[in-house]
Amino acid sequence: MDDRKNTIAGWALFAGIIALGAALLTGEIFHDDDFDSCTAGDGYCPSYVADASVPTGDVEAEQPIAFYLAQGDATRGESQFAKCQACHAINQGGANGIGPGLYNTMGNPIAGHAGYSYSDALAGKGGNWDWDNMNEWLKKPSAFAPGTKMSFAGLPDPQDRADIMLYMNQMGSGIAIPPPPPPVSEDEAAAEDAAADGDAQTAEDTNVELNEDEVEGTGDAGGVDVPEAQ
Ligand code: HEC
Repeated sequence: MDDRKNTIAGWALFAGIIALGAALLTGEIFHDDDFDSCTAGDGYCPSYVADASVPTGDVEAEQPIAFYLAQGDATRGESQFAKCQACHAINQGGANGIGPGLYNTMGNPIAGHAGYSYSDALAGKGGNWDWDNMNEWLKKPSAFAPGTKMSFAGLPDPQDRADIMLYMNQMGSGIAIPPPPPPVSEDEAAAEDAAADGDAQTAEDTNVELNEDEVEGTGDAGGVDVPEAQ
C-alpha cells in the first residue's frame, strides 16, 4: 500500500515537472515572439532587450574614419591642435619648427614640406596624405612610420583624429570629405547584438534554477531534463 502511494505521488510529481517544463518552453516561445515584434528602445520590449541596445564591449570596435568625419567638427579640431603646436605651425607660410609647417598638408605628398629635413622613415613612405593614412599616422606615428622623429604618442580617440584632420583640411586647399557610411548596416549590427544578448539573458532565467531544485528532491524523476534555452 505504502509503495503504491509512493508510486502515485511519484507520478504526480513527475507530471508536475513535465508541466513546469512545458510552461517554461512556452514561456521561451513567447519571449522570442516578444523580441521579434519589438525594436530595442521603442518601449514595447522586455527590459533586457532595451538594455541590450546600450553599447557594451562593442563600443571599442572602431567605425570607419568616414563615420567620425561625418560627425566631426573642425572648430573642436582647432582647439585639439594645441597638442601639436609645440612642434608645428599651421598658418600659411608658418616656419618649420621641431616639426614641419603643416599648412596645406592634406592631399599633398607625405614628407613634402619644403625646407624640412624629414626622417628616412617618413620620407620613404611615398604617396599623398589622405584621410586613411593621416588617420593611421595620428593614431600612432611610431606604428605608421617606425623610426619617425615625431615623438608624439598619438591620439587614441578616433573622434579627436577626425576633428584635427578636418581642421588641417581647412588650413590649405583641402580635399573632399568622404560621405558617411550607410547607417542601415549599423542598425542591423545593433539588432544582431541585441538578439544575441537577449538570448543569453533568457538562459539565465531564474525559473530554470527553481526547477532544477525541485528535480533534485524527486529521486527517479531527477532524470527529467528541463529544456534549456537555445
Ligand atoms: C614633440 C613634437 C611634435 C608634436 C607634439 C607633434 N608633432 Fe607632428 N611631427 C613632428 C616631427 C619631428 C615630424 C617629422 C617626422 C619625421 O620626419 O619623421 C612631424 C611630422 C608630422 C606630420 C607629417 C607632415 C608632412 O609634411 O608630411 C604631420 C601631418 C604631423 N606631424 C601632424 C601632427 C599633429 C596633427 C600633431 C598633434 C596631434 C603633431 N603632429 C604633434 C613633431 C611633433
